[in-house]
Amino acid sequence: MAANNILIAYFSNTGHTQAVAEKLAAATEADLFRIEPAVPYTEADLDYNDDSARCMRELNDPASRPEITGTVPDWGRYDTVFLGYPIWWSRTPPIMQTFVESYDWAGKTVVPFCTSGSSSLGSSASVLADAAPEATWLSGQRFAAAASESELASWVEGLGI
Ligand SMILES: Cc1cc2nc3c(=O)[nH]c(=O)nc-3n(C[C@H](O)[C@H](O)[C@H](O)COP(=O)(O)O)c2cc1C
Repeated sequence: MAANNILIAYFSNTGHTQAVAEKLAAATEADLFRIEPAVPYTEADLDYNDDSARCMRELNDPASRPEITGTVPDWGRYDTVFLGYPIWWSRTPPIMQTFVESYDWAGKTVVPFCTSGSSSLGSSASVLADAAPEATWLSGQRFAAAASESELASWVEGLGI
């Protein structure tokens, strides 16, 4: 697989999705981009049992688009974009919508992946696919934070990209 046209863009707060993204990058020799919130999430922000916590307010507001710091350099050169995120109540964190709505996806193939406590990827990526219908979306996959590089490599091989 040609690596210089693959980007792995990921959002991660407690390092799980980051660990998978880094192993995926090693397996594919792709570039990595960390989706950085303009305002970082504190532990209290991520308290999913507290309806007044930031994560819950964002999930409960369909218009919520948390701001991102930084942009992907040379976006146009990527053909394939892996999009990684933690599952938040079976959904994508709304900052992923901010990310997807910030770029032109024409001609790109997108592969979602996630980490979670136990939930599968399910239909979490559909809100992202709806925001970028011009891309070709492959079905994604959930990984444990401890997924091995060889597990990721064989997943990528099976995608046929
Ligand atoms: C707001 C919030 C909601 C979550 N909802 C779920 C869930 O529905 N199912 C699940 O298995 N894990 C859930 N989790 C756990 C995270 O998906 C899991 O810890 C993930 O690996 C964190 O990734 P990160 O370290 O890259 O941020 C939730 C975590 C947070 C903060």
